Amino acid sequence: MDWKINSLEEYAVAYQESRNNPDKFWGDIAESFTWHKKWNEVQSGTIKDANVKWFEGGELNITENCLDRHLEDRSDKVALIFEANNPEEEAKEYTYKELHEAVCKAANMMKDLGVGKGDRVCLYMSMVPELLISVLACARIGAIHSVVFGGFSAHALAGRIEDCECKLLITNDAGFRGSKVTHLKEIADNALNDLGKTSVEHVIVHKRVGNNIEMKEGRDIWWHDIYPKASSDCKAEVMNAEDPLFILYTSGSTGQPKGVLHTTAGYMVWAAYTFGNVFQMNEEDKYWCTADIGWITGHTYITYGPLLNGATTTMFEGVPTYPDAGRFWEIVDKHKITHFYTAPTAVRALMACDSEFVKKQDLSTLKVLGSVGEPINAEAWNWYNKEIGKEKCPIVDTWWQTETGGILISSLAGVTEGKRCFATLPLPGVFPALMDTEGNIIEEREAEGNLCITRPWPGMLRTIWGDHERFKQTYTSAYPGTYFTGDGCRRDENGLYRITGRVDDVLNVSGHRIGTAEVENAIGQHPHVIESAIVGYPHDIKGQGIYAYIIASENHHEDMIKEILEVVTSEIGPIAKPDKIQIVPGLPKTRSGKIMRRILRKIAAKEFDNFGDTSTLLDPSIVETIKDGSL
Ligand code: WT7
Repeated sequence: MDWKINSLEEYAVAYQESRNNPDKFWGDIAESFTWHKKWNEVQSGTIKDANVKWFEGGELNITENCLDRHLEDRSDKVALIFEANNPEEEAKEYTYKELHEAVCKAANMMKDLGVGKGDRVCLYMSMVPELLISVLACARIGAIHSVVFGGFSAHALAGRIEDCECKLLITNDAGFRGSKVTHLKEIADNALNDLGKTSVEHVIVHKRVGNNIEMKEGRDIWWHDIYPKASSDCKAEVMNAEDPLFILYTSGSTGQPKGVLHTTAGYMVWAAYTFGNVFQMNEEDKYWCTADIGWITGHTYITYGPLLNGATTTMFEGVPTYPDAGRFWEIVDKHKITHFYTAPTAVRALMACDSEFVKKQDLSTLKVLGSVGEPINAEAWNWYNKEIGKEKCPIVDTWWQTETGGILISSLAGVTEGKRCFATLPLPGVFPALMDTEGNIIEEREAEGNLCITRPWPGMLRTIWGDHERFKQTYTSAYPGTYFTGDGCRRDENGLYRITGRVDDVLNVSGHRIGTAEVENAIGQHPHVIESAIVGYPHDIKGQGIYAYIIASENHHEDMIKEILEVVTSEIGPIAKPDKIQIVPGLPKTRSGKIMRRILRKIAAKEFDNFGDTSTLLDPSIVETIKDGSL
């Protein structure tokens, strides 16, 4: 790839070029991919008008770039390593040729069921190779994939299926996760039953566990009954550059999760360019990202980014602590992983375990470490650097979001300097600005403010599925003309960026994004809940924990706390369960009825010394009452 940045000087040149001559810069990069037809315009539309487009007029298929393009030089190179939940189970490897064949077969299997260009396909699966294969199979035939993380409840799944009107659902009978089995098909059945009338015509069930499940006549089909018969010859559907590639639901500060929409060419260029430059892999290197494909990290940095670069990518079915806390390091040793990408929450959890788990394994193959999903604290960074990287591996602290498609701010491994707890520098094509509370750009170098991106970049989301107004309102109207990230950020004297966390009502719990309003809505389903307020508080392992303040009706009872946890689990999923629940007689509200969350956050964090100005509260005495009963 001639766009690979190899030195600090080359980074500076690329950044300048992306500023001064963006069309030439991105046009040259796009030339390195396979197109059916070249674009007419590199970039058109503006953030202000919420109509950004990249490579308009171009025609391509992303899977030809992920797979077919490598068949000449890399057909026998391992594309995918699958490591099962159970360490006793033999790992599986797919070469580029084998993965190409599997994707083509799965694509034909879907086609045979009448799925085609523009149709939505929901993937509710555990971390098995068939998930990655299904993602690419959708892209092969131009169907829009919507992967739903296997930890979400039937209710959450139903909402997502309904919102984008999926025609096909693919699931597993069940999935292995540590010592647990997740009953995915049963949950999917419940979701479809809840919906009653649904757009879903067929459910393909991949057998992973072999448990007893019900198959609905005429609707449900076993993967193993149709996949083997499908042809391995599947011409890629020719897509327009701006045709939708996928929808991925994520939480916001209000209302229901929103379907973030990414389109074909811009996302492809961004996934490839950022992966190649941030991780700096060599041909023989082996990469492992521990995320789940149900999140954006698994889309861009397990699936598309690595494959677009012809790299070897690893997917792991299990969890870091099963059968014991040495599992990650054992996998690194076993597969001779060179590039390892995980979340701070995993680092903190493993750091708290016996150091023998690390010492037992040979980690000498590691060259680059990555961090993603939340700010990494100094202690976790030090441990990661010393115990895992043996102080010889650069750590890339990659800041980005579901909406950004790929990494926006990060050091480039071994090329630009890292700095502990700093994401450091924007990638070429990324122009960050810090905003003050009045909405002005802060020009000083050393500053703190709300992080916005002032120019379109190829991987930017294009809309919220079915709700363009919400797209505009959420991202492009807070600071008109720029994209608002929802994050706070500090810039140091050298121009390096440090993300300080969300400034809106979005929590980041173990790297999972959770909307406070969503949890409040779920809690509100309990018959004895009158009102609730959710805030985050500092949590040693999770980064943020969930603290719930609940006003209950007089006749609330002993089991109420347990029932609230159940209601949240069934409305959203176990990841959204509050860590602490405090029943309160009232909430600190202003005269206009707004909850003063600032106070609730302070109490949850046990910062009792100064609550600031509480004079606008309707009943200031409630603050002391809540404080006295705090957990
Ligand atoms: C939010 C986005 C990025 C893919 C996984 C999460 C936080 C993400 C970092 C980082 C500090 C980070 C931000 C962001 N975040 N990476 N390196 N340092 N904070 O994607 O679920 O869309 O969440 O995660 O707050 O807004 P997501």
